[in-house]
Amino acid sequence: MKQRGERIVALTAYDFLFARILQEAGVDLILVGDSLAQVVLGYASTIPVTLDEMMHHARAVRRGAPDSFVVLDLPFLSFQISPEEALRNAGRVLKETGVEAVKMEGGDQRSCETVQLLVQAGIPVLGHLGLTPQSVNALGGYRVQGRDDATADRLRQQARALEASGCFGIVLELVPAELAGEISKSLTIPTIGIGAGPHTDGQVLVLYDALGLNTRFQPKFLKRFADLEREAKQGIERYVDEVRKGEYPGPEHSFSANRSEAKVSEGEGRGVSGGEEGRGVGANRSET
Ligand code: KIV
Repeated sequence: MKQRGERIVALTAYDFLFARILQEAGVDLILVGDSLAQVVLGYASTIPVTLDEMMHHARAVRRGAPDSFVVLDLPFLSFQISPEEALRNAGRVLKETGVEAVKMEGGDQRSCETVQLLVQAGIPVLGHLGLTPQSVNALGGYRVQGRDDATADRLRQQARALEASGCFGIVLELVPAELAGEISKSLTIPTIGIGAGPHTDGQVLVLYDALGLNTRFQPKFLKRFADLEREAKQGIERYVDEVRKGEYPGPEHSFSANRSEAKVSEGEGRGVSGGEEGRGVGANRSET
């Protein structure tokens, strides 16, 4: 896509239904981000989330988006201890979740050795430079990276090193727009920016931020493309009201004893495989 001058569209997803929506909307790359820790599990940072938790959500995303390119974000301490342990963990991710690739934060020499080992084993790796949230404690907070000459030079050098190590792309997070553009131009692999301005080869956002589900988080780089928090709140308040008043369920939502009455549900059902009444593909069936 970079060679063709096409911009890459990426978003995070953590569950079956949103993954299906992302696939149907034509998103190029779905990232099961370790932002899962914050936006799904409610932790203050990405540090507590485990590899097993990431894999649990990646399997759901895979089921929702079977034809999409899905990347799992290797969480804190799943790849830092040694390149061998990183290989074992990344291998487990591909074997047990069915995703196509992993993402790994960092670009120092040790990170590059790990990338090389994974890539040699046939595991595609997406790099991640700039603000790397797993190092938030070392970086002193969620701050733009590369504003001074020394850190800008380090970012340029690490981006080149990750490309040489075999990364198929690099996420650039919270990097000044001009620097992100310069790095993007200097590489043959694509960059995917978040808070890195318009000159990267693609863009990624955390899905719930982009959809306005998390309005307490308001960084400068974020644009809200929907207002789901407000919609969800209004819908839930309407439900609370109607149940309390005895307005829901009405006769149109209730079953009679007549077995030939009609279907339990219209449409496809909730999951990929069949289930009980109203759940799964099996819910399509007529009751007769
Ligand atoms: O965890 C995540 O969602 C990410 C993206 C913000 C790039 O790393």
